[in-house]
Amino acid sequence: MTSTAISGARMLSVGTALPDKVVTNHDLEQMVDTSHQWIVERSGIHERRIGGSTSGLAAEAAQMAIERSGVDPASIDLLILATTSPDRQVPATASTVQELLGLRCGAMDLNAACSGFVYGLIAAHGFIQMGHSRILVIGAETLSRLTDWTDRSTCILFADGAGAAIIEKTDGPGDLHGWHVDSNGALEEALFCDFDDKIQMAGQAIFKNAVLAMENAARKSLEMANLSPDAIDLVVPHQANVRIVEASCKRLGIPYEKASMVIHKTGNTSSASIPLALEDAWTQGRVNKGDNLLLVGFGAGMTSAAAVITWDGI
Ligand code: COA
Repeated sequence: MTSTAISGARMLSVGTALPDKVVTNHDLEQMVDTSHQWIVERSGIHERRIGGSTSGLAAEAAQMAIERSGVDPASIDLLILATTSPDRQVPATASTVQELLGLRCGAMDLNAACSGFVYGLIAAHGFIQMGHSRILVIGAETLSRLTDWTDRSTCILFADGAGAAIIEKTDGPGDLHGWHVDSNGALEEALFCDFDDKIQMAGQAIFKNAVLAMENAARKSLEMANLSPDAIDLVVPHQANVRIVEASCKRLGIPYEKASMVIHKTGNTSSASIPLALEDAWTQGRVNKGDNLLLVGFGAGMTSAAAVITWDGI
């Protein structure tokens, strides 16, 4: 697959939203045959947040990102909402979010499963190269609606949340130095959710392919950025399983300590997980101007996406 380097945009700010309701592993012990110890050892998850609507969480995260950026909401040209759990089949939940925020701009949903936020980020840089000035990219999910709460192999993993970022045109070369998007539809049956049904997953097949897909997407984007793995200051990975991130970092030769992890408190929030992990690192002071960040995700489909950006935001 060929990709060309793009320029001219930077991520200004990030914002997040999580539902109030906390579901701990001990709560799940009351619902299915599992244990806190098993869930922690096999996934790294201690608790997750459940509740709200995809549009409501998306709007809350977006409002925070807008306020932090200081941009005039009226100047936003486009809203891209990455989600696999829209409020409705039609219209796009992005239009609902647009109305909740009082924006007047283009709005669309983007479904690339858990890679969606990175796909949206890359698409936003492309739209800016074609003339837009400010774009709101959101990843938001209410996976609890798609989860079978009697299936112990999936209900321990999935949860709800949202993260958002403001992408703005800049005179300089921009913050995106390398990117890669991919999909392997042959693996569709490993993770899917039919209409009016719940998520079904072959966990081990996903695990194995996820590690390879993360490594491949990361290597391709680093290659485009002309950077070696040791030039990365912070890895912002999709939060599906601590062991997947550990294995991917090991294969890339990047210390696991450089990864921003929130899965212990959020579970797997699909499109929301990367902006949630990015915002968490930012609030902890782990994201500073000039830092090289590797955002990398994988998901059903089996999609993968990575972006190497140099932080030039607030
Ligand atoms: N509690 C206790 N035992 C459980 C369990 C649970 N919640 N879920 C499964 N088990 C059991 C299995 O039935 C199996 O029992 P058996 O050996 O008697 O057959 C045993 O634990 C091992 O199951 P296995 O599926 O091999 O575990 P695992 O180490 O692969 O971990 C996952 C399971 C789901 C945590 C792991 O495969 C995973 O994270 N896969 C990737 C999923 C993912 O990332 N999905 C989202 C993609 S975006």
